[in-house]
Amino acid sequence: MSTPSSLKGGPAAPKKRETFSSRKLFILSAVGSAVGLGNIWRFPYVAYENGGGAFLIPYLVAILCAGIPLLFLDYAVGHRYRGSAPLAYRRLNRKAEMIGWWQVLICFIIAIYYAAIIAWAAMYCWFSINKAWDNNADGAGAFFQGDFLKVAEGAGVSFEYVPNIFVPMLAVWLITVIIMVAGVNKGIARANAVFMPLLIVMFLILVIQSVFLPGAAEGLNAFFTPNFEALLNPGVWAAAFGHIFFSLSVAFGIMITYSSYMKRKSDLTGAGYTVAFANSSFELLAGIGVFAALGFMAHNTNAAVGDVASGGIGLAFIAFPTIVSNAPLGSLIGVLFFGSLVFAGLTSLISILEVIVAAFQDKLGWNRKAATLVVTIPVALISLVLFPTTTGLYLLDTMDAFVNQFGILAAALVSVIVVGAGLGALPKLAKHLNRFSSVKVGTGWRVLVGGIAPAALGYMLINEIQTKLSEQYSGYPAWFNGIFGWGMAGLLIVGALLLSLIPWSRSSKVSDPEFEGYQKAVERDEVPETSGKEY
Ligand code: ALA
Repeated sequence: MSTPSSLKGGPAAPKKRETFSSRKLFILSAVGSAVGLGNIWRFPYVAYENGGGAFLIPYLVAILCAGIPLLFLDYAVGHRYRGSAPLAYRRLNRKAEMIGWWQVLICFIIAIYYAAIIAWAAMYCWFSINKAWDNNADGAGAFFQGDFLKVAEGAGVSFEYVPNIFVPMLAVWLITVIIMVAGVNKGIARANAVFMPLLIVMFLILVIQSVFLPGAAEGLNAFFTPNFEALLNPGVWAAAFGHIFFSLSVAFGIMITYSSYMKRKSDLTGAGYTVAFANSSFELLAGIGVFAALGFMAHNTNAAVGDVASGGIGLAFIAFPTIVSNAPLGSLIGVLFFGSLVFAGLTSLISILEVIVAAFQDKLGWNRKAATLVVTIPVALISLVLFPTTTGLYLLDTMDAFVNQFGILAAALVSVIVVGAGLGALPKLAKHLNRFSSVKVGTGWRVLVGGIAPAALGYMLINEIQTKLSEQYSGYPAWFNGIFGWGMAGLLIVGALLLSLIPWSRSSKVSDPEFEGYQKAVERDEVPETSGKEY
């Protein structure tokens, strides 16, 4: 590791990095991060659209060839270099710091709109009790866009606020900030220990209730009937690979940050397999629950499942309310579905924000409380200025399409190329993974991360750029997509470069003696495996 001379001998704070107090809590928090809105509203529709049952083949290939290998890469970088994304990358190589900041900025954009969706879900949980959307004769879609979001006529930026969204968003931010100020164990781990069991119980009840609805079998048939021809379409494979990064929370700093809080002697790969298995199990369960409910909707309206199926906002805020209005015990379905979105969303939002908090905490050398407040309050304010407005939906849609779907792919591609081909760090990281892990990684992992993943990511990125260039996204005006889509995606790269140029504070963790001792021991292969001492 090259340490700038200006930092050597600086008053580095010899504070110990906080760690999750047990492996179980780490796994729970990592699963809490992975299981989010992506699992509940994205996966079922992506699977259905891309071959139904046959999609499970590219999905499994994507998990095994890219999802899990990149999850291990994140674990190795975070755990070996014991820092937030920018610090860990900087310790890997000074020039790589920018990748970490790029991931931090991606998380910033995702966080500001993710909070809005959680707030909508919270309101819909409440609305489910008396099926508020039934008051609009034109249906749930008209209620969502008109009565609830009060969406402006065309895409743009307005500062006309919608109190029904502002208030729950404020509540989401308050809850999140309070959790995060409390720290890794007292805040993040504790929140996951409460929200995750609640989420699992609620979601299981929802799925059981859904599969007993009339017509559920038709929905499940539509979901699982394999269309093997779809496997010949490269777009289907790209969809599987594209989905898995967001779903597993890999390649945008989250798992680097969380694994830097793992105890030094940790079974990294064992934890990774557990997290990936739990995430996919939840996703499949979501597919079953969502399509059973859509089967009911189709049955009820004498339509084909394909005509009522949708994903994302359309699924959650238009299709589900319609199901709630017509199904037996519909209000219960609504409370369980939207409540699940809230809990799944909150545990993911916390992890997304932690990437930003940890980065500034490391860079500035501040204590937890100060760093959390200084980071989360401005993030919350920006989110509260932009999204509870009549144009919030347009902003959210464009930023999600460009920064999430496109930015994560680009950052992931750059990181695997830099770490693999650029710095040749994979053998060192493999060695680190194998130090304490139950399942060892070998040449296969290096080939997947250094060869297969860059090829798959590169292909998807080119595809994604071509699609985005060939159409005016969502039919929004060119200036709007230019500023909030392309412009935002580009600004993140410039911002990352600038942030990486800011010198590290003297009290920052770059030259932390605790880390340096560990680093030397690891490099000399002297990390004791038998002594009880936690390194
Ligand atoms: N992994 C999280 C999700 O699926 C971010 O929403």
